[in-house]
Amino acid sequence: MSTFAEQSRADIEQALARDTGEGYDRIFEAARYSLLAGGKRLRPMIVLAFCRLCGGQTAQALSFACALEMIHTYSLIHDDLPCMDDDDLRRGRPSCHRAFDEVTAVLAGDGLLTAAFETAAEAPLPAETVLAGIRCLGRAAGMNGMIAGQVLDLGAEHRQIELDALRLLQDLKTGCLLRAACELGCIAAGRQDADTLAAARRYGEKLGLAFQIQDDILDIEGDAAALGKTVGKDARDEKSTFPALLGLEDCRALVRELTDEAVAALPGAPADRAFLTELAYSLVGRTN
Ligand code: IPE
Ligand code: IPE
Ligand code: MG
Ligand code: MG
Ligand code: MG
Repeated sequence: MSTFAEQSRADIEQALARDTGEGYDRIFEAARYSLLAGGKRLRPMIVLAFCRLCGGQTAQALSFACALEMIHTYSLIHDDLPCMDDDDLRRGRPSCHRAFDEVTAVLAGDGLLTAAFETAAEAPLPAETVLAGIRCLGRAAGMNGMIAGQVLDLGAEHRQIELDALRLLQDLKTGCLLRAACELGCIAAGRQDADTLAAARRYGEKLGLAFQIQDDILDIEGDAAALGKTVGKDARDEKSTFPALLGLEDCRALVRELTDEAVAALPGAPADRAFLTELAYSLVGRTN
């Protein structure tokens, strides 16, 4: 891991623990149980990396980074519920509703979603920059974003949908938050020009699709211990996935192709792009 990755990870862990440092009931304990359980921290890492690429410092972007990770964690808590994917294992531990109970997991998810906007609102940035970040988070996580993707995902169980519809589903459920990560980094750094934001969005879009296809591959051939979540559930639930439609070989090629496209979209000088390039390629063939 590069120094930037190591330092960023430490900064993210510390800030997440601090931002959820006060509370007094079971909901709070459950939220911290899921939030502070490890996880790759990919989305907040991307926020910090884009901020740096745009000439900013970690301190400018940390609140947006943590807010996004809170939203991501809430989405995982709810995704694991019996009414959704009914998953017992998450981040190497019993999923939130298994460790606590369903009501607690629903409310812990709601709590993290709400805390995310409070955290973003406290970013040490000019008011209009904070507002732009909050808008970006809301749009990405909302009913025309990640939630729409989850709706499509659940609606596509037990039937196979066309490639274009699957691309849209994956783009909404996973791409939206990854695109937001890229945008939030630019926004935090004060770079909101159309070209930079479009390039950042393109990187996030391609990376997000590659990331979700790899997630689907790992659900087939991954190792539960390494992944920290159960495998074989997409087949059990007859989910619509890229491997189900194209087969594993084509999917592996697609992950590489999309990663090349993501990297090609990166703005900035080659030296500045190095970390996000390395990060993208490190996700090809990942095992967790
Ligand atoms: C899992 O995301 C859900 C998907 C969108 C595929 P991650 O694989 O980033 O999960 P963590 O944060 O590392 O646990
Ligand atoms: C989850 O996708 C996407 C969101 C939580 C928005 P998956 O259902 O494929 O994620 P895993 O495999 O449970 O981590
Ligand atoms: Mg799901
Ligand atoms: Mg799931
Ligand atoms: Mg999955």
